[in-house]
Amino acid sequence: MTQLFGKPLVTQEAMRTRIKELGRDITLHYEHKDLVLVGILKGAFMFYADLARAIRLPITVDFMIVKSQQYQGKTSGKVKVLTDLTEEIKGRDVLLVEDIIDSGLTVQYLTKLFAKRKPKSLQICALLSKPARRQIDVNVHYVGFEIPNHYVVGYGLDHQQQYRNLPYLAVLDPKSVESP
Ligand code: IMP
Ligand code: MG
Repeated sequence: MTQLFGKPLVTQEAMRTRIKELGRDITLHYEHKDLVLVGILKGAFMFYADLARAIRLPITVDFMIVKSQQYQGKTSGKVKVLTDLTEEIKGRDVLLVEDIIDSGLTVQYLTKLFAKRKPKSLQICALLSKPARRQIDVNVHYVGFEIPNHYVVGYGLDHQQQYRNLPYLAVLDPKSVESP
């Protein structure tokens, strides 16, 4: 599977180093707070597991499974919640963990959805950001890597639900993907 993608765009080593730094920043910010770390699945699952272990605080873990609704191959900005949180977040400090900020529409939608539940604070941590693709100016507090405008897979990110288990991040080469 790995040979379909050539060289990693972000190696496992670079990922480890950067996630440790993010964990340190988050630990400093949330000390003495009631942190609920919310993973947005499926894309964030691998990043979430590594980030959670880099945060040196007692935290509450929770997840939301969402599906971005596509319209003519593009993110519509509407997000369907397939599985909701199990924890009450009212009055608590919530950090959303996302895989990638592309147009910004998904994160804008989620921010509004979470704000309605009246958390004490709400911040966003994304492993990746593609600034060139942004349609809306969203406030992302922690970003692992800014990447160029390529479709990427691996480390949780998919192409048609595959390649999420690739242990590093690679650019998807459309030529090497077999047609369905
Ligand atoms: P946005 O709403 O345009 O910011 O995109 C949100 C979602 O699109 C992300 O959470 C990903 O699931 C998906 N996405 C965007 N770019 C990529 C990519 O390069 N590879 C895999 N998924 C992507
Ligand atoms: Mg996805």
